[in-house]
Amino acid sequence: MKRTGILGVGKYLPENILTNADLERMVDTTDEWITTRTGIKQRRIAADNEATSDMAVKAAKSALKSAGLGPEDIDLIIVATITPDMFFPSTACLLQHKLGARQIPAFDISVACSGYIYGLTIADQFIKSGMYKHALVVAAEKLSSVTDWEDRSTCVLFGDGAGAAVLGPVDEGGILGASLGADGSKGDLLRLPAGGSRMPASIKTVENKLHTIKMEGNVLFKHAVKIMADAARAVTEPLGLKGDDIDIIIPHQANIRILNALAKRMGVDPGEKIYLNIEKYGNMSAASSAVALTEAVEEGRIKKGDTILMDAFGGGLTWGALIIKW
Ligand code: ACO
Repeated sequence: MKRTGILGVGKYLPENILTNADLERMVDTTDEWITTRTGIKQRRIAADNEATSDMAVKAAKSALKSAGLGPEDIDLIIVATITPDMFFPSTACLLQHKLGARQIPAFDISVACSGYIYGLTIADQFIKSGMYKHALVVAAEKLSSVTDWEDRSTCVLFGDGAGAAVLGPVDEGGILGASLGADGSKGDLLRLPAGGSRMPASIKTVENKLHTIKMEGNVLFKHAVKIMADAARAVTEPLGLKGDDIDIIIPHQANIRILNALAKRMGVDPGEKIYLNIEKYGNMSAASSAVALTEAVEEGRIKKGDTILMDAFGGGLTWGALIIKW
């Protein structure tokens, strides 16, 4: 059986930049608080008329170009997002049409920040089984559309963007292993309460700001470090890999302190092993690890033969880790 490799990666970030200084004028916060507590300096904000599928199509085109393939070569589209254009049709179906792809299967997955790793893992199964040859996995989020811009404890954290990968069978390297998990009992720690069948949209839900992200940040923080360390162990141990065998870690970018604590638990030097771009983009949910992988490749931080650990956690709670031989 052939392994699945990543044939090309791409990204799209909206032009508009929101800095910590801008946020100081919007809520009671400081650049110093945001920088020391999170590592974030700025984030991108999509235009009013720019929806998730608009960002997804740009990231997808950039990944196709890097893979040297066209939309007609793609056999499967998966979009990871918690901010779809609308409930349905799925953002993946909208993307299929905008890209001009064939009438191939297309669906969204709702896994919050772990969505890119879930998406890559699902695509890997279809490719390894031989059912499909080329899959497009896109992680795209417009978190600014579900952010309460008066809540300083959340609005400083999030940003918009999209990352994508084209996957296909390879003779060497590829995805060596994956580990996914979820704990629904802790779902209340991070949620967007209204707009679904439990609490349909009403004047009251809008007045009570129930269409924006609610988060128990400090409780999540404690779970995050353990969850990411456990996910890393679950994927590395069966492959006999130790911290030293990993060339680079591409994590979900939620908070620099979580990532430093993760490095400590794994016994690796965070400055050397952990790829960071949180200062530029904040937390873009599923798109964070997708954009991070793309930028690590673009900057030459990932070379042929490198062993990469991708590691993410997010709302659900969900988590996932992947080992890729580049
Ligand atoms: N500016 C200034 N002060 C603030 C701000 C702000 N922007 N936000 C909160 N504070 C205050 C609080 O009110 C509190 O004040 P008090 O002590 O007077 O009550 C104080 O700062 C400390 O608040 P904490 O919430 O305890 O701060 P903490 O050090 O935990 O940092 C943070 C908060 C950054 C949210 C952190 O908890 C975190 O990163 N948590 C994890 C978030 C995460 O990973 N989410 C999951 C992924 S997201 C996804 O799936 C979509």
